[in-house]
Amino acid sequence: MLLGAGLVLFAGVFAWLVRDEPAAPGGAGASIADGARLFQQYCGECHAADDLRTQLRDGGAFARGRAETFLRDHGDATDAEDLTILDYLAAADTR
Ligand code: HEC
Repeated sequence: MLLGAGLVLFAGVFAWLVRDEPAAPGGAGASIADGARLFQQYCGECHAADDLRTQLRDGGAFARGRAETFLRDHGDATDAEDLTILDYLAAADTR
């Protein structure tokens, strides 16, 4: 009896905990804010956003097309997440 009540309570708490899972990153609904979050998650430990942003802005070796290709094999983010991250980096004054 007590065990049953405990299980019901646990199921309720679990449902409450997962109710607001964020939508999957990337894809049509992705925003600059998503990119900032993904950057912190996947890139922030090794890179400062401003450094990469400068390289992207200056063009050169890391114009966007090159960056997209480079990121396919670099970092742990998926390709879709990479695009969202690049949107964030390319957005001039978002922090
Ligand atoms: C474990 C540390 C680490 C993580 C995590 C990481 N990087 Fe890097 N990144 C490096 C290192 C080291 C280099 C330089 C060597 C190389 O080219 O692979 C580099 C190079 C780069 C370059 C080329 C810059 C240049 O001056 O040549 C870009 C752009 C870049 N990373 C973007 C990202 C992005 C975006 C993410 C997140 C998806 C990411 N990195 C995740 C360590 C990391």
